[in-house]
Amino acid sequence: MCGIVGITSKKGAGVLKDLISSLTKLEYRGYDSAGIAILTDKGIEVIKGVGTISEVVSRALDEIKDGSTGIGHTRWATHGEVSEQNAHPLLSCDRRVAVVHNGTLDDFEKLRDRLMAKGHRFSSDTDSEVIAHLIEENITLHGDIVEAFVKTVMSLKGSYAVAAIIQGYNALLVARNKSPLVVGLGNGENYCASDVAALLHKTNRFIFLEDGDIALVTPDTVKVCHLTSTGEALSVERGIELIEWSPELLSRGSYEHFMLKEIHEQPNIIRKIAENLNYYRKFAEALFGYLRDGSLSIVAAGTSYHAGLIGKYLFSKMLSVRSEVIIASEFQEWSHHLRKGDIVLAISQSGETADVLEAVRIARSRGTRVLSLVNVPGSTLTRLSDEVAYIQAGPEVGVAATKTFTAQIAVLYLISSIMKDLNEGKIRENTERSLLSVSKILNGQLDEFKRRSKDISERIKHKKNAFFLGRGINFPTALEGALKLKEISYIHAEGYPAGEYKHGPLALIEEGVPAIVLVPYDEDLRRKIIYNLMEVKSRGALTITVQPDNVDVPTDFAITTDSSVGELLSPLIYAVPLQLIAYYTAVSLNRNPDKPRNLAKSVTVE
Ligand code: F6R
Repeated sequence: MCGIVGITSKKGAGVLKDLISSLTKLEYRGYDSAGIAILTDKGIEVIKGVGTISEVVSRALDEIKDGSTGIGHTRWATHGEVSEQNAHPLLSCDRRVAVVHNGTLDDFEKLRDRLMAKGHRFSSDTDSEVIAHLIEENITLHGDIVEAFVKTVMSLKGSYAVAAIIQGYNALLVARNKSPLVVGLGNGENYCASDVAALLHKTNRFIFLEDGDIALVTPDTVKVCHLTSTGEALSVERGIELIEWSPELLSRGSYEHFMLKEIHEQPNIIRKIAENLNYYRKFAEALFGYLRDGSLSIVAAGTSYHAGLIGKYLFSKMLSVRSEVIIASEFQEWSHHLRKGDIVLAISQSGETADVLEAVRIARSRGTRVLSLVNVPGSTLTRLSDEVAYIQAGPEVGVAATKTFTAQIAVLYLISSIMKDLNEGKIRENTERSLLSVSKILNGQLDEFKRRSKDISERIKHKKNAFFLGRGINFPTALEGALKLKEISYIHAEGYPAGEYKHGPLALIEEGVPAIVLVPYDEDLRRKIIYNLMEVKSRGALTITVQPDNVDVPTDFAITTDSSVGELLSPLIYAVPLQLIAYYTAVSLNRNPDKPRNLAKSVTVE
């Protein structure tokens, strides 16, 4: 879950500043330590350390010489503690090779022991350092630098996105397997990075490497070869893709945090999705057709899993289609029943979550069809899928997913509506209209939501626990509200189906514990949840409701929303005050909501 970047430019050019700005754009992938290595006429210069990128590399402009090729890394530790030694780039013994690596190497201990027996000295506890020493060893054995790199990659097992620089060689040597890596194409310079976001200020032309690809990237050329299962490296052509995200989307603008900016973007994204109804038609038609042959399993992690649960509800309620939702990391153990012809719908913001990718690989090996809803263009999941629909939320930088959650729900609603039309053989006009009206309501209510959420955050910020209760389609919204609060404010929070609460968790209610209750639009469900609310209130809970504005609910605090929204679209509205409560609670506790401790945006390890 680290970020890597590399730039190679014509001799005489300086790449340091660009390397720093690219690395800064990757900070959401990891932020416990960082480093840069530059190829200069004096050799390879390295600056690295513990801390944020700006803390570490602010020294770089003064302390190291600029050069024409360089690599950078932002780390989120997996092997080895957070320390300057373990920060990347990592060097070979002779300091002629520097590498950055994202992923985890299997059996690296064996490689390290073998290299140590040959006299290599290791200076870190990381698995990644073996790569630098292996390249050094292979250069001694084979002479040719590219051959040495290919031989090195051949001996690696596990997941890796690697970029290496070698003294005297103005190029980047890169390889990927089960960790993301793209090559960017510039004028007189070329790049590599963990994702396109790092390079959008330099280019919008990208080559998306496949697992098993190795590339030699010089300032003018990119040569790619692919490692076959028989251990050969065959030359391959990879196409160039244009990415339409503008670099401005990656700026925070006048917002204090990316999370707040991204919360604000939601009404516009929902509007854009509604206006693009026809774009989703092909995907919906494919899914509708496949459903005749097999069963539907949705697979996702974290917030996307919660969106998947809402998808399951929509498919059941609107289409009477049975589906299951499997947490990606559990997929292997819970999918033995899947057969050829069944359908897996993978939902992922990044399209790079290792658990989701592994689930999809398992599903494919069982002969299922894979359809996916993804946000990041060109991501690995898109290339493992038979059909892809983009949720079109634009880059999400805040580690906590916000706008991509509502975008996933809006797309699932559109797809379900289109499939309902196909089922009934008619086209209803109101699908687009109802999403547009949600977008408008959200726009009109955002300021009020912010004001109320801020007040509520002051009341809950010193609590140890909080509970989120929902029913029906807003049970997953309750799970999501709890996830948001716990991940950025570090207050323990759990989401429950409100009716289930009395079967155990009710024992945890004591004086002042916040119970955040999502009041259904549906009258029958509402009657039941009011009963559940009274249960917690009478035991001392501080009750906070999110509810339609035309109903009377006995509660301590209420956030109300337009009663015209209706049950099926209510998660799109209800999610927003929950995101804001989490946001303001974190800010008020002096916690950075964009970079919660221990978490990274793109979870590329299993
Ligand atoms: C929570 C959050 C994570 C992600 C999860 C899956 O705010 O962002 O739970 O939802 O890591 O990520 P994607 O959707 O990229 O597969």
